[in-house]
Amino acid sequence: MTEKNFIPSSYSSIIKEGNVTWQAPSNIALVKYWGKKEHQIPANPSVSLTLSNCATTTTLNYTKKNVETADFSFELWFEGQPKESFKPKIVKFFERILAYMPFLKAYHLKIETSNSFPHSSGIASSASGMSALALCLMSMEKELNPEMTDDYFYQKASFLARLGSGSACRSVKGSIVAWGNHQNTKGSSDLFGIEYPYTVHKKFKNYQDTILLVDKGQKQVSSTVGHDLMHNHAYAAARFKQAHENLSRLQDIFQEGNLEGFIEVVESEALTLHAMMMTSLPYFILMKPNTLQIINKIWEFRKATQIPICFTLDAGANVHVLYPEEVKAEVLQFIKSELVEFCENNQYICDKIGSGAKKI
Ligand code: PMV
Repeated sequence: MTEKNFIPSSYSSIIKEGNVTWQAPSNIALVKYWGKKEHQIPANPSVSLTLSNCATTTTLNYTKKNVETADFSFELWFEGQPKESFKPKIVKFFERILAYMPFLKAYHLKIETSNSFPHSSGIASSASGMSALALCLMSMEKELNPEMTDDYFYQKASFLARLGSGSACRSVKGSIVAWGNHQNTKGSSDLFGIEYPYTVHKKFKNYQDTILLVDKGQKQVSSTVGHDLMHNHAYAAARFKQAHENLSRLQDIFQEGNLEGFIEVVESEALTLHAMMMTSLPYFILMKPNTLQIINKIWEFRKATQIPICFTLDAGANVHVLYPEEVKAEVLQFIKSELVEFCENNQYICDKIGSGAKKI
């Protein structure tokens, strides 16, 4: 499979106008993607849990233009208001995908998008947002080419989403998604995410993710800059090798239902991600004092109760608390009594493992 598989040869139908809506979830990586090559090719494979409640809903209205213009012609609405500031990111995305969606300049597009999670909660919407938009564009392509198979539809949606934001390719299908070539994962690809293809023990079904909103502000360093700093990073080679090993370890852990192993891999991955930031040149820190307070509290609680809760982090200060559904009541009680005080405005979001994007 190469990029060329996603270049359409011709379309069998002609459409004048239409509209489609997709809701795509966010995802949280267990093995982290940090470092990339050209065209959003990951420097190492990653695996994520698809979330359920944190999602972006996007409606795409398309109208065929009388004459094709040299520029992309589109409007962007965010939560009911025109949003000019999002447009440059979309133009960049359209430029990257034009070779795979040659019809783009023949239409005027109206993109209306909104998030289920609070605006400026410090939760990145790029994964769910790019996935929802990619899926809408695929629905449009399916109108032009109704013979398209479902496999191709979802694979290409993930492929396109990746070109918008790497981790977005893991927000299309499946409750556990692997992305990036990995020797022990059949069907894995650098080009798109795949549904995790092996057995997962029932202990991981309905896994919970409570997101503690430690800092809702804008990140000081974007993930684009962070990924770039992995070039010439002193520990890059060892880190990329470790991600491959952790993915293999997780396969056994998933199969056996080994919660202790899960905790070790997941927390180590989170801290390694932040260690890479701290050892970049220039170096930076995205954790806040309250992030560390929460981590220490989680460790104390786990030791005292033997309840298998653990944390992970994305590229920011917020903490994702992961735990099996059966201990939900105790963990929520602990979060309310001991962790909420470290959250900005006491805010947190209760989420859980989901099943992928939905057409609405
Ligand atoms: O998709 P990006 O370029 O925003 O990178 C996301 C990177 C992490 O969230 C830190 C890790 C991951 O695998 O999602």
